[in-house]
Amino acid sequence: MLSNSSVRSVFGASRSRVGGSFPRVNVSAPFTAHMQHPSPVSSYCFPVGNRKWISVYGYTQAKALVYSRYGEPKDVLHLHKHSISAPHGTQVNLRLLAAPLNPADMNQIQGVYPSKPPFQTSLGTEAPCAVAGNEGAFEVTATGSNVTSLSKGDWVVMKQTGLGTWRTHAQLDESQLIKIENKEGLTPLQVSTISVNPVTAYRMVKDFCDWDWMRAGEEWLIQNGANSGVGRAVIQLAREWGIKTLNVVRDRKTPEETEGLKKELRDLGATAVFTESQLLSGEFRNIVHDITRQGKEPIRLALNCVGGRSATALAKTLAPGSHLVTYGAMSKQPVALPSGLLIFKDLTFNGFWVSNWGDKNPQLKENTINDVLQLTRTGKFKDIPVEELRWRWDTECAELSAGVQETLSGFRSGKGLLRYEAED
Ligand SMILES: NC(=O)c1ccc[n+]([C@@H]2O[C@H](COP(=O)([O-])OP(=O)(O)OC[C@H]3O[C@@H](n4cnc5c(N)ncnc54)[C@H](OP(=O)(O)O)[C@@H]3O)[C@@H](O)[C@H]2O)c1
Repeated sequence: MLSNSSVRSVFGASRSRVGGSFPRVNVSAPFTAHMQHPSPVSSYCFPVGNRKWISVYGYTQAKALVYSRYGEPKDVLHLHKHSISAPHGTQVNLRLLAAPLNPADMNQIQGVYPSKPPFQTSLGTEAPCAVAGNEGAFEVTATGSNVTSLSKGDWVVMKQTGLGTWRTHAQLDESQLIKIENKEGLTPLQVSTISVNPVTAYRMVKDFCDWDWMRAGEEWLIQNGANSGVGRAVIQLAREWGIKTLNVVRDRKTPEETEGLKKELRDLGATAVFTESQLLSGEFRNIVHDITRQGKEPIRLALNCVGGRSATALAKTLAPGSHLVTYGAMSKQPVALPSGLLIFKDLTFNGFWVSNWGDKNPQLKENTINDVLQLTRTGKFKDIPVEELRWRWDTECAELSAGVQETLSGFRSGKGLLRYEAED
């Protein structure tokens, strides 16, 4: 790949980004290590969509939201412009369709997430940096001569997290990508949000509890953060698999808003929805007793992405021998467990991290994605609500980073989603 400064030297500092003529540019600066193309003596470049430029050698201009130190997204994210060469060998050139703004992405930028992409200079930034974002849908724009499984126009997602998805274009190796087979009937939103939250939900519900399939409709799971991307996926998968769900959300500002949110989740297939204040009240024990037919329908799995008192309250509802799986810590409070639950109820407490799981089970991850995409195609898995942040070629960095920062506030109507509106 070419750095922005390299591009300037290749294309000439005085070239205009908008214009109809094909400027001729003399190249005198040596190629840097980022340049994968042999140094041409001279080159033509031409405008695409009146804004962007591709040289006769196939270089594409790209922008990436990068950070070279940890901190709040609004303070540390900057937009880096660079060039991407034509793909060689097994390289694949990609254009962003959409990428979600997940809580883990924010934590990564803040430097408080366990996995930290290495800071590198491969995009030609002055300081080593990482491209933000872990999940997204991309379209293949060109393939190297040794690429066998992908063609121009295919849609792909990243095989692993940590590759950096908040960028207009990327060049990756074929081996780093999962092809979306049969993209017909799917949207960029659905594909861009498939590989983290639905996979997390799917594996947690399937892998931590030995459900008695003969008792379909008579066993429960309970979860907090039920309106999150993961929570919504849990509700829909559990509905498909005959598991009842007891869902907890945070109270909204007004009873009407709270009721609206509960209804939204019931419409997805939630069996019952309660608020956090109900969960933490002395009444909750009776509520659970009633809806589980005096415990005849056991709650066998608890999924916790909040922590603190909410996690403790979930654990107290579990039937003996059940599991509580912690996969997030939105309240930033530790999980505190009464000893009695461990001693007398033989509960098991697990954690789940989809990045780690996916690295160890790449084929199963792909199968899981395909399973959920099939449910999506048949209308059984609904879109998550999103607040779109539209990214055009000339969108300013301040607008993007402010939009990213915004997603850190709670009580949102939908997940932040970067949608790239390509002009090339
Ligand atoms: N371990 C893994 O492999 C894995 C994978 C995916 C996600 N996760 C984690 O799962 C959680 C949900 O992720 P997501 O992408 O599904 O989320 P999301 O769609 O962005 O939604 C965020 C959720 O967090 C809730 N929330 C925000 N601040 C909160 C607070 N202070 N206390 C309690 N709840 C709060 C929100 O509730 P309100 O609407 O009430 O604000 C909402 O339900 C995050 O912690 C994320 O890191 C973990």
